[in-house]
Amino acid sequence: STIYLKDYQVPPYLIDKTELTFDLDETTTVVTSRLHMRRNPEFGLSTTPLVLDSGVDVKLIALAIDDYTLPEEEYRLSENQLIISATPDVFILTCETLIEPQNNTRLEGLYRSSSMFCTQCEAEGFRHITFYLDRPDVMSIFTTTIIGDESRYPVMLSNGNEIERGKTDEGKTFVVWHDPFPKPAYLFALVAGDLEVKNDVFVTQSNKEVKLQIFTESHNLDKVDYAMEALKRSMRWDETAYGREYDLDIFMIVAVDDFNMGAMENKGLNIFNSSCLLASPKTTTDDSYLRVEAIVAHEYFHNWSGNRVTCRDWFQLSLKEGFTVFRDQSFSADMHSETVKRVEDVSFLRTAQFAEDAGPMAHPVRPASFIEISNFYTLTVYEKGSEIVRMIHTLLGAEKFRAGSDLYFERHDGQAVTCDDFVSAMEDASGVDLTHFKRWYSQSGTPVIEVTDEFDAASGVYRLTMTQHTPETAAQPVTLPLHIPVKMGLLDPNGQEISAYFNGQESQEHVLHLTAESQVFEFTGVTTQPVPSLFRSFSAPIKLRYDYSSEDLLLLMSSDSDGFNRWSAAQQLAVNELTVLINQAIAKQALSIDSQLVKGFKNLLENKELDPAMVALILALPSQAYLSELAETIYPAAIKEARGFFKKLIAKELEEDFGRLYREHHLEGEYSPQAKDIAHRSLKNMALSYWLETDSELAHQTVKTQFESANNMTDQFAALSSAVHSQHEDAENMLASFYEQWQHEPLVVIKWLMLSANQEAADALSRVKGLMEHEAFDLKNPNKVRSVLGGFGQNVSGFHHEDGSGYAFLADQIIVLNKLNPQIASRLCTPLTRWKKLQPELGQKMKGQLERILKEDLSKDVYEVISKCLA
Ligand code: ARG
Ligand code: ZN
Repeated sequence: STIYLKDYQVPPYLIDKTELTFDLDETTTVVTSRLHMRRNPEFGLSTTPLVLDSGVDVKLIALAIDDYTLPEEEYRLSENQLIISATPDVFILTCETLIEPQNNTRLEGLYRSSSMFCTQCEAEGFRHITFYLDRPDVMSIFTTTIIGDESRYPVMLSNGNEIERGKTDEGKTFVVWHDPFPKPAYLFALVAGDLEVKNDVFVTQSNKEVKLQIFTESHNLDKVDYAMEALKRSMRWDETAYGREYDLDIFMIVAVDDFNMGAMENKGLNIFNSSCLLASPKTTTDDSYLRVEAIVAHEYFHNWSGNRVTCRDWFQLSLKEGFTVFRDQSFSADMHSETVKRVEDVSFLRTAQFAEDAGPMAHPVRPASFIEISNFYTLTVYEKGSEIVRMIHTLLGAEKFRAGSDLYFERHDGQAVTCDDFVSAMEDASGVDLTHFKRWYSQSGTPVIEVTDEFDAASGVYRLTMTQHTPETAAQPVTLPLHIPVKMGLLDPNGQEISAYFNGQESQEHVLHLTAESQVFEFTGVTTQPVPSLFRSFSAPIKLRYDYSSEDLLLLMSSDSDGFNRWSAAQQLAVNELTVLINQAIAKQALSIDSQLVKGFKNLLENKELDPAMVALILALPSQAYLSELAETIYPAAIKEARGFFKKLIAKELEEDFGRLYREHHLEGEYSPQAKDIAHRSLKNMALSYWLETDSELAHQTVKTQFESANNMTDQFAALSSAVHSQHEDAENMLASFYEQWQHEPLVVIKWLMLSANQEAADALSRVKGLMEHEAFDLKNPNKVRSVLGGFGQNVSGFHHEDGSGYAFLADQIIVLNKLNPQIASRLCTPLTRWKKLQPELGQKMKGQLERILKEDLSKDVYEVISKCLA
């Protein structure tokens, strides 16, 4: 049953106040709700029945309107609804339900994670707790009473402030929490457990003291300091960058081990997957440190972009997610390096979001329909949504953008609104017309921009002709031109920026507005044939087609004033050369290439002025996944062969440089996750991974020494992965001793599982089956499932085995998880959604597995993905 945006109606009823009581117990938890309800005047006077959402796992015990207990013939209960046909205009609905959190393997609603109780209510988890109007435009003031056994659950938390505490007649403890801010049910949270706490204080810009608390199980309390500091940085940043101050007296974060996603912004009580919160030098890599900081910031920023102003309906999800991702990206850029952050974000977008936008699950940033909303927490809604906000920032400029965001928060505080409302605030505050621009929200697919140019030396005129086309997608057969901001500049043959006239303005950098299907842009005062630097900082999420020569790309790579485009030029050159090699591999020819990129790399490595983090990023070859996205038809083994060959070739040519870089960027002393140190480590470890591809005896010793003596996880794990990926003769031993060393740290075990599942080998599949039997594995823990099955999905020799056994294995696991945890099962389908693009022999085998899955009794989550794949 598909739900459509066009069918939106305001809710027939409102819930002004929500009073909840949870009597927590090991077997059955009793939930009592008192909902202060009234008919919604905006809906119009009517006799519309009251329809409450419910989950199959909620058992109804008693139902009353005011003091009248409803007999069974006065309501109707179906699998997902409770319908009461007659109600007064204003009334209190009391409802008693039973749930079994310990049997909740979906991890939606109230569930157990190790010894604690916790919740996940976004998007529609609250209905698995009790009957409710579980939609974001129903906002209510919550008061929550939690009753539990003090010895097992000394800590019992919910949103807002603790207002009362005491003992029940049976000797249990009760705690009452009150949240003064009206909120939708998806922001409700409850946690109970034997937890330790780290306390801190933040003083806001208007001098209000906020108590900060991070709760974990006792063995993890030593890993929360970094998150606490990140939280304080986020709070300060939101004040300075957006003028947003925190609004409650207390802000709490809890880490849980079993969690479907990364984290959740519940009002005043964020709940985190422990992998996104905990950090310590010995167990956490640099990447993970940065991730923790970004996610802490993201969830904190939701307090305004999400909670104070929320979404009218789930089609508007990007209203809060796109904007909040843009905010967290800007924060991380300010904390570290702007260019490095941009490269990482774009690289991810171009690899994963572009693939999604070209596949069977393609949808606009504001989808027009869905079967299961959980399937739409996507790269498109999050990352492409953030790109839309970034383009608005580019079109308005920083100052007007800030005015727009101020107006948005002021105008809509306490409301549930739409993406259109966001854009209107931006327009009203800036005077910029975004009517055409808004099409980005409703049209899916990645636009392709073809650019040609001509230069007339005599007149000094340089012309760029740009045409745009968005390929049709699964979501729409017809596409229209978009309003695309093109940030660009021109370089002369020496790599100097050219100051040219455009529209009477002289500048080295211009923002062009591509709005029509085809447009000509004319520059004057140009004295030499320029090389255009287009879409600087990736000013729009598009695919650029311009026929750059290798020399052009080398010039941009070494001289562009835009750091992002220097990286992008190197990637493009690498893609061009890899494409030649991939085609040779497909044709089963011997691989060979006269590489220009190697020359660019040589220059790069000799330049001591550059940020080592940028050098490392430029040296990173386009990934298997990115090359697959670019390919018309994906030949996984050929791509792998070409990448392997190319990496070895570069390694041999630059062997001495890599050895030297390794030594130059090796840091002594105590670990710190500051940008400068991260940069040195990333370049050192990138150099090591190349160096290992040579026959250098020293390199082979170095990797072992680093593995054994590193004082931090970044270096230890980099050594291990390089050894594994270069098929070092000691790789097996190293993997075994790594597990031995870290088996008691679940977050390190996750990394070990992922790397092991990813290890390329002829017998990869049987190894992965072994991993699933391993003591460290647990099918009920999403992190472990993601590590092993997600890691396996990237394993070319295992997953894409020519006999199809890899696909059959993943399908088997999806079928099992479909019953256990539909959200996780659905996410695991992603590698199967590419079947149409795969080389035909493989694609047909994959399709066969999709058809097999479709015959099962499927959850909405898995059904939607599989059926769309086969449509
Ligand atoms: N709002 C959360 C975030 O982006 C994501 C939670 C989504 N969870 C889910 N099960 N769909 O921070
Ligand atoms: Zn979010």
